[in-house]
Amino acid sequence: MPAISELGAAKRDKPLWSTNEVTVIFVLGGPGAGKGTQCSFLVADYGFKHLSAGDLLREEQDRPGSEFGQLIKDYIKEGLIVPMEVTIQLLENAMKAAMEKEQKTMFLIDGFPRKLDQAHAFERSVVKSKFTLFFKCSEKVMLERLLDRGKTSGRADDNIESIKKRFRTFEDTSMPVVEEFRQEKRVVEVDAEQTPLKVYQDVQERLKEWGVHPLEVKLQQA
Ligand code: C5P
Ligand code: MG
Repeated sequence: MPAISELGAAKRDKPLWSTNEVTVIFVLGGPGAGKGTQCSFLVADYGFKHLSAGDLLREEQDRPGSEFGQLIKDYIKEGLIVPMEVTIQLLENAMKAAMEKEQKTMFLIDGFPRKLDQAHAFERSVVKSKFTLFFKCSEKVMLERLLDRGKTSGRADDNIESIKKRFRTFEDTSMPVVEEFRQEKRVVEVDAEQTPLKVYQDVQERLKEWGVHPLEVKLQQA
């Protein structure tokens, strides 16, 4: 695996993979919208590789000897978006590893892109996404879920101060990404305030419309 310190991925001016080789679906929604929960359902039924940008950042933060550990920690605590070079390199490394070790070519990239610069750089230098699955949820419901999760998650940012900052960042920095993709008609929006199973039913219906089918259906078609 290339050293993260090289951070070359975001600088490339051509995509590493074509959309024939690799399928990427971005998964966005505010903190606590249920991105991780829905991704875990999709992994089981569709065979996607699930990569959470937040999880990859926390892993790098905790990796002994990481030169980005402290930086990531500070950004996460403040609910700010880590400089895109780091996150894109972590994603590219994780995608390469999943392709080599697990023969995966379909990816759910969760919690990314959270800022326009990372959206543009990823699509320019790694691969263009098929669409963005957007989980729409009010701050009231997200707050309840996050405070509940905070009792057991052990996450440094599941506390009221960090949550408020994350809500601001989401509105100011991440929603412009959703708006841009929406203008390009590349957003699939689902009401995420329903129960997890009802949300998942809606997700499955919408994926079908986009020609994305669960593993069983693919086998029958083969
Ligand atoms: O998605 P998740 O809630 O796990 O993200 C936690 C934090 O990780 C975010 O609040 C942000 O500080 C950081 N992050 C980031 N860039 C991303 C995804 C997450 O900086 N694309
Ligand atoms: Mg998550």
